[in-house]
Amino acid sequence: MSRTPRDPCAAGRDMRTAWVVTLSALLCARTAGGSPLVSHAGVFLERYGYLHQDNHIHSADEMQSAICEFQWLSQLPVTGELDSVTLKQMAEPRCGVSDEGSQHIWKWRVNAIFTGKSAALRRRKRAGTQAEKWYKRHLTYQIVNWPRHLSLGSVRLAVRVAFQLWSNVSGLVFQEAPGGPADIRLAFYEGDHNDGASNAFDGPGGTLAHAFLPRRGEAHFDMAERWTLNGHKGHNLFMVTAHEIGHTLGLEHSPVRHALMSPYYRKLGRSLVLSWDDIVAVQQLYGKPSGDRPVRLPGQVLHATLQEWEFSELHEGHETTGQPLYCQGVFDAITMDQNDTVLVFRGGVYWTVSPGGGASGPLPLRQRWSGLPPAIEAAAFSPLDSKWYFFKGKRMWRYSGSVLDQGFPRRSGEMGLPRHPDCVFYYAPLGHMVLFKGSRYSVLNLKTLRQEPYYPRRLTDWTGVPQGTNGALARPDGRLYLFREQRFWSPPCFWILI
Ligand SMILES: *[C@@H]1O[C@H](CO)[C@@H](O)[C@H](O)[C@H]1NC(C)=O
Ligand SMILES: *[C@@H]1O[C@H](CO)[C@@H](O)[C@H](O)[C@H]1NC(C)=O
Ligand SMILES: [Zn+2]
Repeated sequence: MSRTPRDPCAAGRDMRTAWVVTLSALLCARTAGGSPLVSHAGVFLERYGYLHQDNHIHSADEMQSAICEFQWLSQLPVTGELDSVTLKQMAEPRCGVSDEGSQHIWKWRVNAIFTGKSAALRRRKRAGTQAEKWYKRHLTYQIVNWPRHLSLGSVRLAVRVAFQLWSNVSGLVFQEAPGGPADIRLAFYEGDHNDGASNAFDGPGGTLAHAFLPRRGEAHFDMAERWTLNGHKGHNLFMVTAHEIGHTLGLEHSPVRHALMSPYYRKLGRSLVLSWDDIVAVQQLYGKPSGDRPVRLPGQVLHATLQEWEFSELHEGHETTGQPLYCQGVFDAITMDQNDTVLVFRGGVYWTVSPGGGASGPLPLRQRWSGLPPAIEAAAFSPLDSKWYFFKGKRMWRYSGSVLDQGFPRRSGEMGLPRHPDCVFYYAPLGHMVLFKGSRYSVLNLKTLRQEPYYPRRLTDWTGVPQGTNGALARPDGRLYLFREQRFWSPPCFWILI
């Protein structure tokens, strides 16, 4: 085996770009720490407006009523106890805007529906804000900056559609003012960005974005997130933008399960993006649209629009930094065939990178593997049976060369595997396929197409491996290269020692 460095992006020389894990790291036990859970929850409840922050001392009663209110807004059973579902909910990716007063405002909103009272009622005042709505109907917005790995064209489209969601159901009209000044500014920042220490961004996961109530007109996004406009992995910038716009218009968090203004991140699914509660909220402030009826498009249609855009961009070959497009931003999946050619998958295309470093242009996925859907979530070539395995949602596809095998796609559940894997690779030391998903990993026997007994197990078996890896390349000698976020992918893309 030669020790030739490989750098398909031909720029930079940084070993930190690949996450190297050795076989000896396997099966290393971890012991759980003490129980700092209550203080941890206390910090969370203070941060999101359920507990006062005066001296960080809270009575048992205060704590319990804060937990109850949190559970109510999060649609959990209201027990007042820090049970496991409650703690789990606190760790979900969410909006950084405080939930303080959301319960009160929602009750008032629902009350107004039943009593037919006008929308011009008293609203809670926040320190430092005059009133919490705009007194004009025509608003401008500006995209100040955007994540490096997304093109301005696609971000612009997503932002435009996100504003349309709101203008289509209310009396508001929005217009982009590219050069500024504008009423509403959208900007990406990393870490502390002069909004106070508690509003500093926290890297991938956790707080995704926050925005200010009128009329400050600012929405801020965590630059360190893995933003995406299509596909399943990462956080959908369109959904988060649409939510933050809601705040800039004066909306607070909603306890309604499918509301866009729920504090928790939601994927762009098939269903409508705005719930009845979002629409009532914006109409109570700004009235109904001037047209005859509100227009709402299902998530499916919006998703297709965003995907089409990216596809046409790839084909027009807009390369913003002079690097191959597959080096920009995040890929869906990565694997290596028996000839040591690396395949990188994204959306409806894939690239090949030869052992010498030469990369192909984007090639249509369907041309080589007909019947395979775009935006797959994980892919692996298995040297054991020389077959290709692809995963997306709750299904697995298996190809011999370019031919789909009989009986595929097959449901992951039938094989005992989770849906939506983070990454998958054939692992020679085990002689089986390994799937990472969140905090666990599964082991698939390729001969029986069943999960091996006693799996899934916890990811902590693989010392140092973080959750949410995006792709993996495994070598026959057991060395494993894992990729996560852009850190391991954007310039210099990646660097592999084979
Ligand atoms: C808003 O309405 C317009 C006109 O009816 C429609 O073309 C557009 O797709 C709608 N956008 C959304 C996000 O619902
Ligand atoms: C790998 O190389 C062999 C011989 O060099 C060739 O026949 C085969 O088609 C290659 N496989 C792939 C998947 O490109
Ligand atoms: Zn929010």
